[in-house]
Amino acid sequence: PAASKVTVHFINQDGVRNSVTATEGESLLDVVVNKNLDISGFGACEGTLACSTCHLIFEEDIHERLDPVMDEEVDMLDLAYGLTKTSRLGCQIVVQPWMEGMTVHVPKGIKDQRELAGSKKTQ
Ligand code: FES
Repeated sequence: PAASKVTVHFINQDGVRNSVTATEGESLLDVVVNKNLDISGFGACEGTLACSTCHLIFEEDIHERLDPVMDEEVDMLDLAYGLTKTSRLGCQIVVQPWMEGMTVHVPKGIKDQRELAGSKKTQ
């Protein structure tokens, strides 16, 4: 059967809402990239768990149902700005049909761990 289409609402850093149609099996990082959502600095490490710029904040009931978090993700999340109880890294969250209609918030600030490691980069 064809992969399900799932509507996801992103609230960006300016509070603007973008509703997109994601495909089951994509990560939320894929969705942001594929839909050209303009979220500055998002997904800097392309999903290799080396940044935390893909930090997203979920609704409580959605957050409870997400796949368990791996240690590597916890380590990176700990370094994210504005961490909340319902935070996860978008590159680790795979779109599933039950997520239909969920809203995810982009935190106000992001911090790219790789910059702290020395390779300063300006855009
Ligand atoms: Fe870097 Fe998710 S894109 S940790």
